Amino acid sequence: MIKVVISGSGLFIPPHSVSNDELVMSYNSYVDLYNQQHAQVIADNQLAPLSYSSSEFIEKASGIQSRYVMVKEGILDPEIMMPLIADQPSDELSMQASMGVEAAKSALAQAQVNAEDIDLVIVACAYTQRAYPAIAIEIQQALGTKGVAYDMLVACSSATFAIVNAINAIKGGTANRVLVVNPELTSPQSNFKDRDSHFIFGDVATAVVVERQELAQSEHAFNVLSTSCMTDYSNNIRSNFGFVNRCDPANAQTPDKLFHQQGRKVFKELLPMIYRHLETQFENEQIQPEEFKRLWLHQANINMNMFVVKKLLGDGVDELTAPVVLNEFANTASAGSIIAFNKFNDDFKTGELGLLCSFGAGYSIGSIVLEKC
Ligand code: COA
Repeated sequence: MIKVVISGSGLFIPPHSVSNDELVMSYNSYVDLYNQQHAQVIADNQLAPLSYSSSEFIEKASGIQSRYVMVKEGILDPEIMMPLIADQPSDELSMQASMGVEAAKSALAQAQVNAEDIDLVIVACAYTQRAYPAIAIEIQQALGTKGVAYDMLVACSSATFAIVNAINAIKGGTANRVLVVNPELTSPQSNFKDRDSHFIFGDVATAVVVERQELAQSEHAFNVLSTSCMTDYSNNIRSNFGFVNRCDPANAQTPDKLFHQQGRKVFKELLPMIYRHLETQFENEQIQPEEFKRLWLHQANINMNMFVVKKLLGDGVDELTAPVVLNEFANTASAGSIIAFNKFNDDFKTGELGLLCSFGAGYSIGSIVLEKC
């Protein structure tokens, strides 16, 4: 039986940070502008005025305090409300590839693997900035990896699903060492004019090296004990952005082309699915939740994570058991659980168990049980 390890991880943090207060100040200026511009129709009760956002609400409802972005210019300008990202010449490394390359270099260094020993690169994230050529193939060329490369999208579960693909490729004999890269460039898809979601996302890139156990050199390696993925269709988290948009010019820029969600419904529907999914996986693997030293959970909402932890482990669980990174990074789509893994795995001893788990749009859930080598 071929055994597989995650032997290293890497994190790239974008250059600019944006606090809740900065975002709220710009959103509230936008609200003033909007309400002034529509004063007459609002006075005639034909249009509802927009309401202010607040930092207190954001932190209480989500746990988010700040986020990183690749480009800050434009986001805080109430007349613009999006990052101003200039079109790049086709012969330059794309923004997403450049983010991914940085995370990948750290992961390769931690795994003690040379780029030329990688035979598969999978770029997995919520959005790729173009359809083709694949961002993964661009990263393959930039790093000098061998074999093949492809992109795959499963929203917030992209990273865990891609790790499962990497494991399957190794077990199936089509690869020995796989680089999974998650360049999450979320800010261009965030609707900074939407009070319900203007605070949710941040940009980041993560990467992991997955390899055959007998090839692994790194002291950071974790054995993969079990994987489990599920999907169940839902429209509650959605973006209608796509290549067909331009064919209906009147509707090409409407807000449904950006991230939007029914946050409450997501909470109510997804949480029971996560419990059931994990309970089944643990039962199949004969693992008790108490055996986990750490839960590296998806980082969308602190209250959601607290529900998961309480359901699995009861009350009074210390913070380090399920570390939170969304306070600093916000929701970084599929990269969130990998950031938590990257920052909180140095204290593991041989044989100790951890759970990597993502959940989000689709709906989709991916969970991987890891054991320190
Ligand atoms: N500032 C101030 N008040 C706000 C606000 C803002 N930015 N946004 C919403 N509110 C108000 C609402 O109008 C509502 O007021 P009301 O009670 O008078 O109607 C109240 O706050 C509660 O709004 P609600 O949308 O129910 O908040 P919530 O507690 O559900 O939190 C989310 C919102 C998005 C943080 C939360 O639902 C969430 O994170 N859900 C899970 C989403 C998830 O994991 N998605 C995966 C994405 S990949």
